[in-house]
Amino acid sequence: MDPKLQQALTRWRRHLHQHPELSLQETATAAFVCRTLAELGVPFISGVGGHGVVATLTRGHSNRSVGLRADMDALPITERTDLPYASDNPGVMHACGHDGHTVSLLGAAALLAQDADWTGTVHFVFQPAEEGYGGARSMLADGLFDRFPMERIFGYHNWPGLDAGTIALHDGAVMAAASRIDIVVDGHAGHAAMPHLSRDPLLASASLVVALQSVISRNVDPLQSAVLSICTLNAGVAANQIPSQALLSGTFRSHSPAMRDLVEAGIRRVADGVGATFGVSVGMEIQHGVCATINSSVEAKLAASCAEELGGPVRRDLPPSMAGEDFGWYLEQKPGAFAWIGNGPATPGSELHNPGYDFNDAILPVAAGWLAATARRALAS
Ligand code: NI
Repeated sequence: MDPKLQQALTRWRRHLHQHPELSLQETATAAFVCRTLAELGVPFISGVGGHGVVATLTRGHSNRSVGLRADMDALPITERTDLPYASDNPGVMHACGHDGHTVSLLGAAALLAQDADWTGTVHFVFQPAEEGYGGARSMLADGLFDRFPMERIFGYHNWPGLDAGTIALHDGAVMAAASRIDIVVDGHAGHAAMPHLSRDPLLASASLVVALQSVISRNVDPLQSAVLSICTLNAGVAANQIPSQALLSGTFRSHSPAMRDLVEAGIRRVADGVGATFGVSVGMEIQHGVCATINSSVEAKLAASCAEELGGPVRRDLPPSMAGEDFGWYLEQKPGAFAWIGNGPATPGSELHNPGYDFNDAILPVAAGWLAATARRALAS
């Protein structure tokens, strides 16, 4: 990559890192993206599905089309790095590297804008609100695929723990579907010394937490994967009162709709059984968040062969992650692939969503180059 462009990418990345914005609030980030696209001479439309921006380059007369996507939002985390470009927005931090993803996509736009050797249309999708706020869904609901038709779509996430610049592509599942569970156990309050006059929601909840662990271990094929974690349990205010209510919450994740349904059915069955056993009422709300991110095989292969051509190491053997990613919603509707690009060693503090995390600027040329190469190849094949 031209050293001037590489320097610009690093400068842009650090600017975004210093000015992070939470999901649904990416006003300045989107404005920065628009300003930079204008400087690059790449036309764009802003305000797509909230703060989303879609830029478009067309060359020649081919009617082929492809999409490339990056996410733009930051997290409600207080940064604990001593970097000169650390967040100046208190309590908000780019702890997942979306600053790097956004700049990689700007870099891909810069590369394709300079390159005369391709034909077709590339849409650059700058997505807001990835961190649990449905940004992909909002852009789809705002007509992303109708207003900016694309045959397939590609994107990536940086990956601490994978060598810097190594590109990994999965066949099939990459990231998990995530669902949230909220449980209300209603009993009957009473004196701690007269439990027979109460219905104890706390004892029922303790049993429920244990019993729910059987859902995965006794229902899921051991050669497949799913995870269920109950993460909060709140009940009671006094040491001598059996409380009237207990509240629990948690999450479950899997890599296919069939597995998600199986786990959900198990959770409901166990909850009903525990309620009956203890004579309490168990109310349950399950909200399905992102669906699983599943690569289509032709596109995973195409993206991997572009990565190989760039000359760096390519991994095709990594297991999927149980983390969620809303790119899955695009792949529900279009073929495509979502890569991981190594961010370097996962030393303590450098993990995603850690207050010590920082995106590795050294991988910007790899990421931008891979996105551009993948778009070119997708248009040509
Ligand atoms: Ni992320």
